[in-house]
Amino acid sequence: MIGGTSGIGLAAAALFARSGTPTIVVGRNQEKLDKAINELGPGARGELADAADRASLDRLFAQIAPIGHLVIAASGGAGAGPFAALAADDVRRGFQAKFWVHFNSAQAALPHLAEGGSITFVSAASGRFANPGTAGLAAINGAINRLVPTLARELAPLRVNAVSPGVIDTPWWDDKPAGMFDRESRKAPLARAGQAEEVADAIAFLVRNGFVTGIVIDVDGGLHLT
Ligand SMILES: NC(=O)c1ccc[n+]([C@@H]2O[C@H](COP(=O)([O-])OP(=O)(O)OC[C@H]3O[C@@H](n4cnc5c(N)ncnc54)[C@H](OP(=O)(O)O)[C@@H]3O)[C@@H](O)[C@H]2O)c1
Repeated sequence: MIGGTSGIGLAAAALFARSGTPTIVVGRNQEKLDKAINELGPGARGELADAADRASLDRLFAQIAPIGHLVIAASGGAGAGPFAALAADDVRRGFQAKFWVHFNSAQAALPHLAEGGSITFVSAASGRFANPGTAGLAAINGAINRLVPTLARELAPLRVNAVSPGVIDTPWWDDKPAGMFDRESRKAPLARAGQAEEVADAIAFLVRNGFVTGIVIDVDGGLHLT
């Protein structure tokens, strides 16, 4: 679980660990890692690595191989805002923090993924629906979504899927302006924020079901319809 020490990744790791699947959570921050492992209990272990750094991923995967299933839930964040004022450097930082982390993680894990394995990306609703002010995020998450069908064909029988969350109640929102989380939560037809466990449930389905590949599941309260 790349990005398993918080939010969606932590909720998915908890599901796997509870079901008795040996689970490894990866993050950059030792304190968060220790807290997560404490919470997850003996079914899980933690590894410190920055998934933006390919060499660090190569070392990590060689060390923990073979990998049954890879889930990439590392967060990004940069690249939001109205297009006319959007700084290209901010969008580049967003690509670096999210798209390249997903790309690098999937590519570095490939030689170590076991037969019958899978890759599950975590993109975002911004990649699926037309929300003014999110062109940068749409490009970043849309790029991740577009990897899915092509890789599902190219890498078969390895399965490749994604979940596309809407507004989910996780620490990702902690540094966002006051009121933004509530405002964004109300935009979906279900008019509420999702829980990390609701996204984790879709991730677990994609990992478990051996006949599903090449799909992106919206877990967004209907946001993609707006
Ligand atoms: N929350 C939402 O409303 C929402 C909506 C749409 C999409 N998403 C997507 O869902 C995914 C998970 O988000 P979240 O809400 O669960 O965020 P979160 O609570 O901030 O968790 C992010 C996790 O990623 C890890 N991480 C970030 N960069 C990393 C890197 N370079 N290498 C290794 N680990 C890294 C973080 O740990 P460290 O900081 O210790 O590295 C943490 O464990 C993200 O891709 C996010 O874009 C979230």
